[in-house]
Amino acid sequence: MDEADVEGDLVNVLFTEKQIHDKLAELAAVIESDYDGRDVLIVGILRGAVMVMADLARSFHRHVEMDWMAISSYGSGTKSSGVVRILKDLDTDITGRHVLIVDEIIDTGLTLSWLTSNLASRNPASVEICTLLRKPEALQMPVEVRYVGWDIPNEFVVGYGLDYKERYRNLRDIGTLAPHVYS
Ligand code: IMP
Ligand code: MG
Repeated sequence: MDEADVEGDLVNVLFTEKQIHDKLAELAAVIESDYDGRDVLIVGILRGAVMVMADLARSFHRHVEMDWMAISSYGSGTKSSGVVRILKDLDTDITGRHVLIVDEIIDTGLTLSWLTSNLASRNPASVEICTLLRKPEALQMPVEVRYVGWDIPNEFVVGYGLDYKERYRNLRDIGTLAPHVYS
């Protein structure tokens, strides 16, 4: 879907599909040089990170392994609660592996802070985080994020994998959801 297909639901478009692709190519280049000579397992967090994983992975000029986790953070609507449960675990044994968690957005940081320590307890060689978006003002838990696309204001955004009630994930761009849609 394009912006025209969700007319009136967005306050503005924050990032276009083109801007997102360029940003991911930039991040991929940095990641590639940081992990030079080391195998990387990129772990996408379902379902929001599907688009980021697809485009980030294809931006690499090297092999990367991909795996997925699904996590429920017992949130409802536009809020995250921090109570985390694994719905789908990794298929990969990460002992001794370099793991890069790929997510689309860090809001409160509760989900990724929990996930990072969960994965760290499995004795990987390293665990780092790459996120397309981060909302610094919403952060409730300190999370060390190695790779960030953009820092954004504390507003609810949709598109490019980001949903509101499972809708808008297939919007090409990322936009701020108009409050009338969720209030
Ligand atoms: P956190 O635990 O609060 O950092 O957020 C975890 C998850 O909440 C993210 O991975 C998203 O799936 C979802 N989320 C947070 N902010 C937004 C937003 O602005 N739009 C859509 N989903 C969001
Ligand atoms: Mg997510």
